[in-house]
Amino acid sequence: MEKLRVGVIGCGTIGTEICKAIDGDDLEMELFFLIDNHPENIESLYTSLKKKPEITKSDSHGLGAILEDVDLVIECASQAAVREFVIPALRSGTNVMILSVGALLCIEGLYEEIESIAKEKDCKVYIPSGAVAGIDGLKSGAMVGIESVELTTIKPPRGFEGNEYVKEKGIELSSIERAETLFVGHAKEAVKYFPENVNVAATLSLAGIGPKATRVKIVADPGAKRNVHEVKAWGEFGNLFVRVENVPSAANPKTSYLAALSAIATLKRISYPIKVGT
Ligand SMILES: NC(=O)c1ccc[n+]([C@@H]2O[C@H](COP(=O)([O-])OP(=O)(O)OC[C@H]3O[C@@H](n4cnc5c(N)ncnc54)[C@H](O)[C@@H]3O)[C@@H](O)[C@H]2O)c1
Repeated sequence: MEKLRVGVIGCGTIGTEICKAIDGDDLEMELFFLIDNHPENIESLYTSLKKKPEITKSDSHGLGAILEDVDLVIECASQAAVREFVIPALRSGTNVMILSVGALLCIEGLYEEIESIAKEKDCKVYIPSGAVAGIDGLKSGAMVGIESVELTTIKPPRGFEGNEYVKEKGIELSSIERAETLFVGHAKEAVKYFPENVNVAATLSLAGIGPKATRVKIVADPGAKRNVHEVKAWGEFGNLFVRVENVPSAANPKTSYLAALSAIATLKRISYPIKVGT
């Protein structure tokens, strides 16, 4: 089996885990390029790899020529990077994986643009489940219709430090003594007021019933040790309840370790002939 050639945008927490997995012998893939607008992040990742990628770059200049030699581009950088790199990759006929999935909810028209180019160029756009679980059940349930999807996110109060919405509401995070609901609304509003929750809400919305119908509740709980996401859904299929207690990544506490693992599991799914799960 010929190895897939991969380009990675973003050499941070998730990018590093992905590249280490590709650098091992488990996936039928090889790294061809690394891009990051902080060269020091490329440098520390590059030196840690056994098999060095051919190209490292700090911007999208000359991307078109490089893409000709690549089978899959993985975006694990930022929302801005989705427009900057994913659109040209699709236009050149390259499959993509998107981790900054919040961009598809926050940047008006981006989802439709990506869908239209992917169809025209016959490309695949992979969106891993990320830091949330239950996406498989939602996708299956959506085949006959889902009536309700609710996401409850529970974090320790310090997880909301610096949040503008919390400040405007006059909520004093340090004086919260028991679980307190900070927000209830739909996913489109939630990502505006709580950008920290953006990827989970976006992935759930895309898998289920869309950003305006997906309900989101955000809770600050001094008793919470981890970032918890609970998904409740019901419809013709029955009821679903999933709770994930996420371990934060050592390098970036905002990113759950499960998000990087879910990207690696998606790569495994791409490169192996037997695909388990929906
Ligand atoms: N899907 C999910 O469930 C999920 C979960 C966690 C994080 N994420 C998202 O994945 C992305 C990466 O997360 P992370 O924890 O690895 O972040 P990180 O900050 O650790 O790393 C991001 C890297 O990308 C680089 N970068 C950012 N914008 C860039 C650009 N425009 N061009 C080139 N390089 C750029 C940064 O320099 C950094 O090295 C973020 O957008 C984050 O919101 C998704």
